Amino acid sequence: MSNKVFLIQREALAPGQVCKVETSGCPLAVYNIDGEYFATSDVCTHATASLSEGEIVDVDLIACPVHDGQFHIPTGQAVGFPCTVDLRTYKVIVEADQIYADLDEESEAASSAI
Ligand code: FES
Repeated sequence: MSNKVFLIQREALAPGQVCKVETSGCPLAVYNIDGEYFATSDVCTHATASLSEGEIVDVDLIACPVHDGQFHIPTGQAVGFPCTVDLRTYKVIVEADQIYADLDEESEAASSAI
């Protein structure tokens, strides 16, 4: 079963950028890493910070704007103190110029890392 929701137009998110998208009460952070798109929960697992207000560092890590904890974007793994709980990831679907997420599926990187 798929729970596919529209996120953003492809050209609206340049490489190296992250933005917040509200999807039926579930805020997501959507990332463009060198032309590849990823989606995670927007809420930091350490507290309630919005990760889309943070910064992408070291190519594929998101740094939280509040305490600078870090997560690996493709897998959602917590990789920087004080974050210890992994981030929920979502499967991203690219169709023509539109980016979607399947809210019922983890990212492929997270699924294969388990
Ligand atoms: S709220 Fe994100 S690291 Fe503390």
